[in-house]
Amino acid sequence: MSNTLFNLQRDHLAHLQRAYSDILVAQGLDSLAIYSGHASYHFADDQAATFQTYGHFMHWVGLANVQHSWLVIKPGERPQLYLYAPADFWHLPTNLPEEPWVAEFDVHLSSNKITPPITGHAAVIGDIQQLETSTQQAIKAEYQPAALVNALDELRMFKTAYEIACLREANRLAIAGHQAAQAAFIGASAELDIQLAYLGASRQRESDVPYQNIIGLNNHAGVLHYQHYSLQPPKQRHSLLVDAGRRFRGYCADITRTHAGPDAPHGFNDLIIAMHGLKDALVKSTGPSVEFVALHEQMHQQLGEILIAHDLFKGSVNEAISEGVTRAFCPHGLGHSLGLQVHDVAGLRHPDGSSAPAPALHPALRLTRTLRAGMVVTIEPGLYFIPMLLAPLRKTSLPINWALVDALIPCGGIRIEDNVLVTANGFDNLTP
Ligand code: GLY
Ligand code: MN
Ligand code: MN
Repeated sequence: MSNTLFNLQRDHLAHLQRAYSDILVAQGLDSLAIYSGHASYHFADDQAATFQTYGHFMHWVGLANVQHSWLVIKPGERPQLYLYAPADFWHLPTNLPEEPWVAEFDVHLSSNKITPPITGHAAVIGDIQQLETSTQQAIKAEYQPAALVNALDELRMFKTAYEIACLREANRLAIAGHQAAQAAFIGASAELDIQLAYLGASRQRESDVPYQNIIGLNNHAGVLHYQHYSLQPPKQRHSLLVDAGRRFRGYCADITRTHAGPDAPHGFNDLIIAMHGLKDALVKSTGPSVEFVALHEQMHQQLGEILIAHDLFKGSVNEAISEGVTRAFCPHGLGHSLGLQVHDVAGLRHPDGSSAPAPALHPALRLTRTLRAGMVVTIEPGLYFIPMLLAPLRKTSLPINWALVDALIPCGGIRIEDNVLVTANGFDNLTP
């Protein structure tokens, strides 16, 4: 790892020290305990589900698989890291990496599961409901106070130079996976083989992905969170949609690419090119003071133009929007905040922590903020042929080219997704 990154990480930790001190003082708190969380076992089994460390814990330590551990933060004092490190011959013992950031913490290794040593007026955050009742009762602290959690979420919204470097590297690694996935598609692979090619080239095991990769061939590309990997290649190859990421030091990439196959109907590849153009236009419109809801509405406007230009809709853009045509072709939001969680915190809150819900017409939008320098967001316009959403439109007399829609249904849909930093003067696309 480069010294530059380590220096940035030291600055990141100094920033957290200052910001946490200010927040704790403002909340009248003497100490804060943050629980890492731990993996849950399947019912009546000794096997556990995949796990991800609580985001506010990861914000400090950058490790996505720390369990049964605590951080104790007090204003103006060094952070205390209580790391669960049992003597265990079944598993490799817990060990912190030999990296400079560790020296910024007082590290306490413990072979027992501890109760965090908090003092004074204290708060505790994290999923402590997983803990034994006696441990929960021994923690004399306010649990998950909303004002505190909102302030810590707001802190996560603005990325430090270290976090931006991590997000950029996560993107670089993920793109290697996307290139391998495309090559596997050209080689007529099954969804599972495309997934394995992606994991191999992006150098990660499946339990480490920041979200379950979406690898959809043909009509599966139109299932927004398609969750299977078929074992057999289809006889015909119309399309491939890959929505897949990578974690780097806790930080997530979230990238989508769509490819036309050799059996794609006429016009599908042109639509993919148009959607890349739409993504690029929306990225260029990203910048400080931009309302994300307005950017989402710009997506619908330009999607309406694409539907008309590609002969899918024979009315006006206004009609496409007001009659819900663009919403039927793209039912999800333009994007979301990205960081230690793929759908990162604070997207639906104002800076003061009050609620900023999605507009009624766009309930799936996960980000309603005014963009500011330091935010990292996804820009992910989509255009899908989802029979369930198109069915109500078929009952209307709207001028939709149903013959063309029906020809495109076997392609499922198109999504193009990049990860974009808002800068003081505009944007920086982190996706190479
Ligand atoms: N990968 C999920 C999303 O794009 O939000
Ligand atoms: Mn995605
Ligand atoms: Mn996304």
